[in-house]
Amino acid sequence: MSVGKTILVVGGAGYIGSHVSLAAHERGYDVVVYDNLVYGHRSAVQWGEFVLGDMADADQLRLVFRHYRPQAVMHFAAYAYVGESVSDPEKYYLNNVAATLNLLRVMREAGCRHIIFSSTCATYGVPLGNPINEDHPQSPVNPYGRSKLMVETVLADYAAAYDLRYVNLRYFNAAGADPRGRIGEDHNPETHLIPLVLDAAAGRRPGVSIFGTDYDTPDGTCVRDYIHVNDLAQAHLLALEYLLDGGRSAGFNLGNGRGYSVREVIACAAAVTGRKIAVSEAPRRAGDPPALVGGTALAEKTLGWRPALPRLEDIVGTAWNWHKKISDESFGRLTPCPH
Ligand SMILES: NC(=O)c1ccc[n+]([C@@H]2O[C@H](COP(=O)([O-])OP(=O)(O)OC[C@H]3O[C@@H](n4cnc5c(N)ncnc54)[C@H](O)[C@@H]3O)[C@@H](O)[C@H]2O)c1
Repeated sequence: MSVGKTILVVGGAGYIGSHVSLAAHERGYDVVVYDNLVYGHRSAVQWGEFVLGDMADADQLRLVFRHYRPQAVMHFAAYAYVGESVSDPEKYYLNNVAATLNLLRVMREAGCRHIIFSSTCATYGVPLGNPINEDHPQSPVNPYGRSKLMVETVLADYAAAYDLRYVNLRYFNAAGADPRGRIGEDHNPETHLIPLVLDAAAGRRPGVSIFGTDYDTPDGTCVRDYIHVNDLAQAHLLALEYLLDGGRSAGFNLGNGRGYSVREVIACAAAVTGRKIAVSEAPRRAGDPPALVGGTALAEKTLGWRPALPRLEDIVGTAWNWHKKISDESFGRLTPCPH
């Protein structure tokens, strides 16, 4: 059914987009990746065509839509550093919002009517309780989260006014890597807990800091919901099929529906890697909610999605396989960072 269908993966050279491209290729889609490589890696684009370009470049996008005629767009392109979004909000609104308006304009001109948008649990802000379901109020507490909610709002208005349908996928914490080790997470700078802990296990940084040990959680450290990147990829394919089959515009949370504390993640990484991981305790960071756990019943019911790799050991294990590989390949490229 997917044979002969082309999808444009904007931001497909990045972490999640490259895993979705791989899964889409394996499902029989023709994949075209469009990325400016500001953060992505050319080497992560192996399952489709690659076009170097910026989402803000309407002329280049027009050429791409004219040439490839995609049936749908998967939109991963964004800046995603929360702290930077606070210190330089313009950068975030220009790229995450204004450039997305550009993409949507070119889609409309080209008659491309389906889009899957990478949104985030950060649109919920500080939750009133857990698990967080899709009907939880969206009240983001930083410009990054607000930029994502703005795009969600734009998509709702466009869908009401124009011939467009969308799915917003609100990821919790994406983690893990392709179980065959072909691609994985390689952000620079890295801010996500699991790769930072694995860096410490690999000796590429002296240890990890735990920010806050006095939260109202079972062990006092922050609790987050980690979802394997392959499970995210499968959810994108289900969302795509849902849209192409005429499904209504919607938003879905993607998480495992259970949380792990920072200490549990570190303990799991120590067990998986067999290495000692030095830990230092630091004060809380402003704006970190104690716990963020996704309610995913809607995605299960509507899309038939269920995570296949929910175990933290598998998430950390696949990430570690990848981590060892890039540590070997890039030995000397990365300087250990002070934590
Ligand atoms: N990683 C997570 O845990 C997580 C959680 C929630 C939401 N998200 C969202 O998912 C998406 C993908 O996240 P990721 O971790 O794969 O990030 P990433 O940085 O690895 O990938 C983003 C890609 O978009 C590209 N890009 C950025 N701006 C562009 C532009 N103007 N034109 C063309 N390409 C551009 C980058 O070069 C990069 O390859 C982002 O939108 C992010 O906000 C990620």
